[in-house]
Amino acid sequence: MDVRDAIIKRRSIRNYTDKSVSQELINEIINSARYTPSSGNIQNWQIIVVREEKTRKELSIASLKQTWMEQAPVHLVICNILDKIEHMYGERGKDLYSIQNCSALIQNILLLATEKGLATCWVSAFEENMVSRILRIPSNARPEAIITLGYPNEEPEAPIRFNCQDITFHDKWGNRESAQKPRKSILNFFKKK
Ligand SMILES: Cc1cc2nc3c(=O)[nH]c(=O)nc-3n(C[C@H](O)[C@H](O)[C@H](O)COP(=O)(O)O)c2cc1C
Repeated sequence: MDVRDAIIKRRSIRNYTDKSVSQELINEIINSARYTPSSGNIQNWQIIVVREEKTRKELSIASLKQTWMEQAPVHLVICNILDKIEHMYGERGKDLYSIQNCSALIQNILLLATEKGLATCWVSAFEENMVSRILRIPSNARPEAIITLGYPNEEPEAPIRFNCQDITFHDKWGNRESAQKPRKSILNFFKKK
């Protein structure tokens, strides 16, 4: 599966089969995800692999009672190690880079899991203090997201996306027109169709 397919095929899955996910598969995903870029290559992340049923149940309750989460055989909890980055980049590092770094890691994990035929959902709606208490996360770290992981038991349609023109400006904010003319080869491609 190429990157484009993984990006387009990935869906948020909230219904999982009973099939367990091997630790080898999780290790492979983490082994690739560790190449995610981070500001100053600081790698301010820690991943907690949660398999215990009781803990998954507690996490789903902490996630504003999103009880569907319990079904997923694995929860990957992505933690942001804040002091590491504040020391290097101050407030901006703590408030922005640290979250961007973890978000890039999360998205890469979602894509790698998709490539392996696994299903995921990025969950960030949770009581942070509750999650920290359940997993004994120290005060210098912050749970950023819980990724539910397993095999899909549903095939939802892709929710509607904005089209390219709606999300693109050229050169300056608000400018919808590109100064660049489409290349001849592209025009020929469309003529042929
Ligand atoms: C930062 C973030 C937080 C999210 N939190 C939740 C969540 O708490 N519960 C949930 O069911 N989905 C959550 N989602 C998944 C979104 O609802 C989902 O990505 C969106 O509806 C688009 O659907 P798709 O992922 O299938 O393309 C979250 C996604 C992101 C990026």
